[in-house]
This record gives sequence, C-alpha cells and structure tokens, in this order.
Amino acid sequence: MSDRPDLAGKRIVLGLSGGIACYKSAELVRLLTKAGASVQVVMTEAAMQFITPVTMQALSNQRVVTSQWDAAEPNNMAHINLSRDADAIVVAPASADLIAQLAQGRAGDLLSLLCLARPIERCPLLLAPAMNREMWAHPATQRNLATVRSDGALVLGVGSGDQACGEVGDGRMLEPVELLEDIVAFFQPKALAGQRVLITAGPTFEPIDPVRGITNLSSGKMGFALARAAREAGAQVTLVAGPVHLPTPRGVSRIDVRTAQQMFDVTLPAAQRHEVFIATAAVADWRPASLSEHKIKKDGKKLAPTFELTENPDILASVAALPQPPYCVGFAAESENLAAHARAKLERKRLPLVVGNLGPATFGRDDNALLLVDAHGEQSLPADGSAADKLTLARALVAEIARRISNRTA
Ligand code: C5P
Repeated sequence: MSDRPDLAGKRIVLGLSGGIACYKSAELVRLLTKAGASVQVVMTEAAMQFITPVTMQALSNQRVVTSQWDAAEPNNMAHINLSRDADAIVVAPASADLIAQLAQGRAGDLLSLLCLARPIERCPLLLAPAMNREMWAHPATQRNLATVRSDGALVLGVGSGDQACGEVGDGRMLEPVELLEDIVAFFQPKALAGQRVLITAGPTFEPIDPVRGITNLSSGKMGFALARAAREAGAQVTLVAGPVHLPTPRGVSRIDVRTAQQMFDVTLPAAQRHEVFIATAAVADWRPASLSEHKIKKDGKKLAPTFELTENPDILASVAALPQPPYCVGFAAESENLAAHARAKLERKRLPLVVGNLGPATFGRDDNALLLVDAHGEQSLPADGSAADKLTLARALVAEIARRISNRTA
C-alpha cells in the first residue's frame, strides 16, 4: 500500500456496532490514519464485547467515546459535537440492529443518536454492513437498507465467503483495504459522473508454441490506476486487461485477455457503448504468423528456428475510426523524442489526445511522468515535469479528460 495522503485533513468519525468484524476495524483505523485522516472512534456497548476501547484508542490516538452520558464533554452533548466537526461518519461494522435503528430514526445509544443528529447536507454517512448471511438476506434487513439509502446513507456493500459462524455467503464486512478504497473514492471529485469509460491495460502475449510467446515489460499499473481513478470520478469502468498480476480496482468490471487479437475482439464492439476510450495497453505490434501445435524442440542438429511475423490489428486506430467514436486517448511509450513521437501518433491515428511517457522509465514502476499532447499544444503532468505516483497522475489525467469532454459537449 502506498503512503499517499489520500485523506489528508479529513476528520472521520468511525462508529463500531456489535459484530465479530470489529477486529477488522482496528486495521481500518490504522489505514485511515496512515492515509492522513484523523479518526474519532465511537463504540456501542455491543462493540465493546468484541474489541476493547483500549485498542481503538491506541490506534486512533484519540479518546474513544462510548456513551451519550459521557461527562467529559463540557456541554455534555457528544452527539452534537462529534458530527459538527466531521467530514464523514463511517460505521464499520454496521450490524443489522444498528441499520434497523437508523431506518427507524431511533437514538437509543450514542452511535445511533449521533447518526440521527448529524447535519445531513454536510456530514455524509457511510455504512459497512457486517452480519450472518441469513440476517443479510432477511427481508427486514433489505427493507431497512433501502430505507437508510433513501434517507441519504451510502451503503458500501458486503463481501462474500466464509463467515465466522461457519456458514458461507454474503454479509461479511469488506476488508479494511477495500473500505479504505471506497472511502477515498467517496471524497474524490465526480468529474466523470454518468460517463462510461473503456480502458485497455497491460501487455499482450503472442504464443509461438504451447509454452512460449512474445510479450513485453508492461506491468499494467498505469491502466489499472486510470481504471481506479475513473471509477473514483464516478464513471462506469470496463477494463480489458492483458496478462498482469494486479488486483481489480473496486467497482470496475474487468475482462481478461491474452493476445492482441483477443483484446481487439473484446474492445472494438465494447467501444460503441462507452463515451471515453483510453488505450494504455502495450499491444504487441506483431505475432508469429503460425502457432506451432507442439513445443518446438531443439534436437542438436537443426539450426535455431526462425519465425515469420504478421501484424496485429491496431485497436486504438480502429476504435478512433468508428463512425461515432468515443473520446479516444492514446498512450505513447517512447525511449526518446517524446513530444515528436506523441504528436506523430496523434496525427497518424487521428486522436484528440495522446499521453506520452518514457517507456524504460515507467515499465513496472509505481511512479511516472506524463506529457499530454493535443492539437493545441503540450502539457506536463505533474506540471513541473517531475515524477508522481501513477494513481496521482491518473487522477490528474482523468480530470483533464473530463475537462476536455465537457468543453467538447458545451
Ligand atoms: O504507435 P503505437 O501503435 O505503439 O501507439 C501506441 C498506442 O496505440 C497506445 O495507446 C496503444 O495502447 C495503442 N495500440 C493499440 N493497438 C495496437 C498497437 C497500439 O491499441 N495494435
């Protein structure tokens, strides 16, 4: 995990209601504070059966509040004081009982009381439910969830799998890293709300025989960072990924492919259904003209084998040539003369925007520097020409793309 201060300056009230998932909340506090947030923990009586306030206080470095009758507050109104200063209230775990209380507007303990007393316009409420699968599936719980959603709460969803009770199904609390990703996304500007974004990422693999192939050093990190940034910005994101070992960003739908032809076959029809297409994939330009059915053997006598290559389809140029193309963004990984090569690509593939980066300096790394080239000129990201981590760059690029699309449609 990076140390990027995604939540710098954010004040979060973290509420814990009763559930075995409370043990994950300790890790969540650590991740939130590491991301720069200040975390005020509030615990219900039931939560304290699962984890102690001592643990939560040590991790949050703030006194844990557990009761509305806590006389330490000068005005004796913890429920008002806590929510007036908060940028968000996050309840993790949110038990079935807590959600039922919220749905009914009850205020029987400090946590439900402060959720009810929060200024709805200013203090968002995020819920991370955690419960047994039968409790989750129960119509009463689903009804209560619909009510709290329509009352303005954001329900972060649940995980699926083994449960502490030994059963298997939906209802587990999301993992702390997933919650962090959702909370960070929540605070990002929604510059691409309602837009559909298609992204290709990673290398392709062109088989020579059943065990060998031609590929390249692209890690897919830039494309995956863009997928995450576009989703954070409110877009519906489809990610077509070559062979990479990266986790799928939350909320992104991913299609795995291996060869350039497969990437083409998936991407071209999908492009018609998207407003933006970002081609970050390092697609192999050529593939072996024929695939050997069996492993090519060295027998000691023959010379080294030679291969005939044939050209792969150009995915980006084909999408850009559609009758009604999405807004197409190309990438240019070069080893020199970045601006000139990027501009040549812009013109050759008839693109509104090409993003140049120095291939050897970026492949596999976590940071990068970008040069945006369009019909009007050039622009460095970061602006001072230094390097930044790929997610920071991806967010800046997404903001630039959003600005250009809205200028186009304005
Ligand atoms: O000049 P080049 O073809 O390498 O351009 C790179 C850009 O084109 C990148 O955005 C890359 O994803 C895209 N591309 C593609 N299909 C290919 C080759 C490149 O979409 N066959």
